[in-house]
Amino acid sequence: MKLEQPARAWWKEAAVYQIYPRSFCDSNGDGVGDLPGILQKLDYLQQLGVDVLWLNPVYRSPGVDNGYDISDYRAIDPVFGTMEDFDRLLEEVHRRGMRLVMDLVVNHTSDRHPWFIESRQSRQSPRRDWYIWRDGVNGGPPNNWGANFGGSAWTQDEATGQYYLHLFAPQQPDLNWENPAVRDAVFEMMDFWFQKGIDGFRMDVISLISKGGFADGPLRPDGLYGDPSPQCANGPRVHEYLREMNRRVLSRYDCLTVGENAGNTPELACRYAGFETEELKMAFQFDLMDVDGGERDKWSARRCWKLADIKDVMTRWQTELEGKAWNALFWENHDQPRSVSRFGDAGSEENRVRSAKMLATCLFLMQGTPYIYQGEELGLVNRRFTCLEEIDDVQTRGNCADRLAHGARLADVMETVNYISREHARAPMPWSAAPQGGFTTGAPWIPLHPDYPFLNAEAQQADPDSVYHYYRKLLALRKSSMALLYGHYALQLPNSQQVYAYTRTLNGEQALVLCNFSGETAPCPLLRGRTEHPPALANYAGGPAEEALRPWECAVYLHQTGQSL
Ligand code: NOJ
Repeated sequence: MKLEQPARAWWKEAAVYQIYPRSFCDSNGDGVGDLPGILQKLDYLQQLGVDVLWLNPVYRSPGVDNGYDISDYRAIDPVFGTMEDFDRLLEEVHRRGMRLVMDLVVNHTSDRHPWFIESRQSRQSPRRDWYIWRDGVNGGPPNNWGANFGGSAWTQDEATGQYYLHLFAPQQPDLNWENPAVRDAVFEMMDFWFQKGIDGFRMDVISLISKGGFADGPLRPDGLYGDPSPQCANGPRVHEYLREMNRRVLSRYDCLTVGENAGNTPELACRYAGFETEELKMAFQFDLMDVDGGERDKWSARRCWKLADIKDVMTRWQTELEGKAWNALFWENHDQPRSVSRFGDAGSEENRVRSAKMLATCLFLMQGTPYIYQGEELGLVNRRFTCLEEIDDVQTRGNCADRLAHGARLADVMETVNYISREHARAPMPWSAAPQGGFTTGAPWIPLHPDYPFLNAEAQQADPDSVYHYYRKLLALRKSSMALLYGHYALQLPNSQQVYAYTRTLNGEQALVLCNFSGETAPCPLLRGRTEHPPALANYAGGPAEEALRPWECAVYLHQTGQSL
């Protein structure tokens, strides 16, 4: 096969670091992270070797969904600081040669946004059709759709008696993208931020913006509500809207854009983020996050996964996007639990460290842009919740309420929460062994993981064998090799149930990546003849010693392709 190097681009070579500002670093002791807090940690991030910072929403918001309910797109929420703080942060990020990407939340606004306040006033309001209003049917909502955070997706509004659509919480009414005035307002707002100098957007649930109709959805297995996605996910006009956005805004800036695309498939990704399609640069896929999903969704999680499924998913995405679109690679974000607890082993300190390194090696050396979620570079793990009162997250609470109303046992619900809730990722960053992990001098908005006195950034910076230092080496290695950045991916040992092995090949250079996804020794014939050569990177000192990988062991070999595999 002739291997051609995809066109080079900074956003392909970059590693993105996701910051959940509320939980990153608090500079003023109010218990909530803020923009000056991020500023204080820029050296840490630069030393880690990441290139782009993606901030979860910091716009003005009542905070029902921690900033995903925006009431003013052009203001910084006072809890995070001021616009001057933002400008200073952007300047300092750029001064360090890094870039800054913002979250774009335009499927919905807050119900406190002036647009919605005006819209709900009367049926004649000039902004009435900025949102999606319908009459009820037989004394109930317009259709059977359930919201993503539990309950119906429709709320009846007193002023007019009509219902408005909210695919998420009732305080997050969906915008009506059919209305050109809505699109104009969104595009102008995006331009406002680009004019300030930001480097791109991560686009929240962007695949939901075009609604294809309002017929009942198929009943979810819980029997409570219908599923809106057949008509809302990847709706009929979504590509038209994104091309318009691209033509009017994105194409004028050298930016990174990544869609959060529920229900993404490789075929769809090649449209949303095809090299030729003029929409986005990348689109997240959720197939990897679904390998342990139950028959309904994450709330009926299977709590176990098979390596074969991970290999199938990743190999399909690597293969089907090659030459056509670019992958966005992630194990974690603010909506997921910690990957070590989920795909690695958080049960012992040595396996925590090994499996955190292995997971990063396996995913972030594939073709695509790595997205590292704050604390992932420390191998942070889930904490244990004993009751729902300990949970702040609107999604966890809403979905658990639905399950309990439907007769589920509290113990089962808590087990799911401890496995899959997004609350895990949102615990404040442990910076040091100081009180509250050095995150705040006050009372943190939600508790830190109780292990922070030894599991923290300062301890790991001081330890050359830490997960943190491994990430530094991994990111540097990735950047040093054109094969790792742009090479062709080929799965090796497809039938191994323990080892994920693959090669990346380009212009005579080849990388071999070997990862043991188990706590047992795993035979690995690809190591034959290699054990006397030091690997370019490994998570056991000196690298693999025999033709087998030890528990959670990983190694990366770089060589010229004259050599046999
Ligand atoms: C996806 C975001 O990642 C999540 O955190 C948020 O709750 C929903 N979209 C609604 O905006």
